[in-house]
Amino acid sequence: MNIPQEKYPICFTIHYRGEVYQVQTYEGQYPSLMTLISGHLAIMGFGLCSGMGSCGTCLVQIAHSPEARRSQVLACDIALNDDLANKHVFVPDSDRGSGYAW
Ligand code: FES
Repeated sequence: MNIPQEKYPICFTIHYRGEVYQVQTYEGQYPSLMTLISGHLAIMGFGLCSGMGSCGTCLVQIAHSPEARRSQVLACDIALNDDLANKHVFVPDSDRGSGYAW
């Protein structure tokens, strides 16, 4: 018997260029955190290899709170699931000068 699973929203926060975005999505709605970010924020040069894991342009930092220690990860390696719930995702500002500024 195939019982349909109810989908619960996954809520988290994205910080980018001083703005704070409250995100609500569902598991499987996007292939990865990278595709969600690149689909909603116009970030020049973000996710250049389309999630192949080879360009490194989708680096973000993730933390439990804005003040907590952050982990740096490739957003294309992050699935949209409960592990992301209530986290804070910091997207670097890559448009200013060379390199990233968090
Ligand atoms: S999109 Fe290239 S490493 Fe993630």
